[in-house]
Amino acid sequence: MAEPARRVRWVGSTASTQELAHLLAETGVAHGVAIAAREQVAGRGTRGRTWHSPLGGLWMSLVCRPREAASVESLSLRVGLAVVEALEEVLTSLPPLAIKWPNDIHLDGRKLGGILCEARWQGTELGWVVAGIGLNVSNPLPPEVAGTAISLAQVVRGADPETLADPVADLVARRTREGGPLRPDEVAALNRRDGLRDRRIASPLAGVARGIDAGGALRVETPGGEIRAVIGGTVELA
Ligand code: BTN
Repeated sequence: MAEPARRVRWVGSTASTQELAHLLAETGVAHGVAIAAREQVAGRGTRGRTWHSPLGGLWMSLVCRPREAASVESLSLRVGLAVVEALEEVLTSLPPLAIKWPNDIHLDGRKLGGILCEARWQGTELGWVVAGIGLNVSNPLPPEVAGTAISLAQVVRGADPETLADPVADLVARRTREGGPLRPDEVAALNRRDGLRDRRIASPLAGVARGIDAGGALRVETPGGEIRAVIGGTVELA
């Protein structure tokens, strides 16, 4: 019998799957085309940081062409939610995963993975977004993040990037097809998984994190008791 079609295209070693996915997008590939690398030698994280990507992790980028471009800034939350739901579906013994606004996936209070969304505009029109997904699966973690990062292999047996790639890519592709603002069910799911809820934070605004709103903003209660919506920035705990 024929093998079922696989969504994800695999390469061996590359600089960054983000670059490969942008190149594919430029050639006009459809929404949901995904590319994964066994290792990246110049993996990139948010805010210009380097993303350590040795063998054993899931390093994957998807071309997203949402039908509605509005609220594209909340796409990384939508992608993160799809990733955690796909992982929990496939790895049934996995403890619940949390989303740490705006783009981190956490397990037991440690970083399991991150999302990097890069939009390309053609004038005022959204051309496409490449959604990059980095997940520690069975890869070694660098010693400097050993206390703050975690891999799936530390908590479940038999997790491997090849098995996870297609189900993760399928759900991300389905959830990002329409685009537009976060739906009420997504906002509710994000708030159930909010890894920052009621945590005291020092930045991007000093206060207490009080959940995620429909625009994808972090709600922060200031020392004066006012709720402010913060749309971008890096969270530092107080
Ligand atoms: C973060 O900083 O938390 C986001 C990390 C995103 C890493 C992924 S790995 C696949 C894709 N290719 C990259 O170079 N980066 C993203």
